Amino acid sequence: MAKNILVLTGSPRKGGNTDKLADAFTAGARQAGHLVTRYATADKDIKGCSDCKACQANAGVCVISDDFSTLAPLVEQADLVAFVTPLYWFSFPAQLKAAIDRCYSLFLGNRPLKDKECVLIAGCGDSEAAFAGMVKSYQLIAEFLNWRDRGMVLVPELHDKDAVLKTAGLQKAETLGKNIL
Ligand SMILES: Cc1cc2nc3c(=O)[nH]c(=O)nc-3n(C[C@H](O)[C@H](O)[C@H](O)COP(=O)(O)O)c2cc1C
Repeated sequence: MAKNILVLTGSPRKGGNTDKLADAFTAGARQAGHLVTRYATADKDIKGCSDCKACQANAGVCVISDDFSTLAPLVEQADLVAFVTPLYWFSFPAQLKAAIDRCYSLFLGNRPLKDKECVLIAGCGDSEAAFAGMVKSYQLIAEFLNWRDRGMVLVPELHDKDAVLKTAGLQKAETLGKNIL
């Protein structure tokens, strides 16, 4: 059955490793017949959560006026969320983290979220050990929200924006997309 897949990207570098990994995953998922929506958090104005809790009394709708209003319905409608991102300081880049933080409104406002799956596709400059914190955060977020992890592609040693072309990362990301049932 075709799924609604939301590809949430985290890099501000246009055409870099993250964009290429997102392209490969998207191509695989589309070949498998899924509907893919891309959302580049770095191109959007999404502020951090202010913990005002207004969403609690507002049917889970965040009262901060910015681009999160365009992301919230996509998260709600997605069957699978793909986090595709570079590693920044052993974690998610601020642009993607702000978007994740703002999803607190959906949770706090008890919005009935569809059952979801998720994947993590990430690149970094250092060795694979550098991903430990991000992977743990991803796993804890998925566990907390009851989203089923459908796999990870972690690509180390990416510095230049084309570095991923010399790795097996794109093939792995495409295969991950293709194998979504
Ligand atoms: C602000 C910043 C922080 C970074 N922090 C890390 C890090 O903690 N560990 C690491 O291995 N690479 C780190 N990197 C390197 C990026 O993860 C790497 O260059 C990645 O391939 C960039 O992806 P992109 O081409 O999609 O922008 C950092 C890069 C930047 C710009």
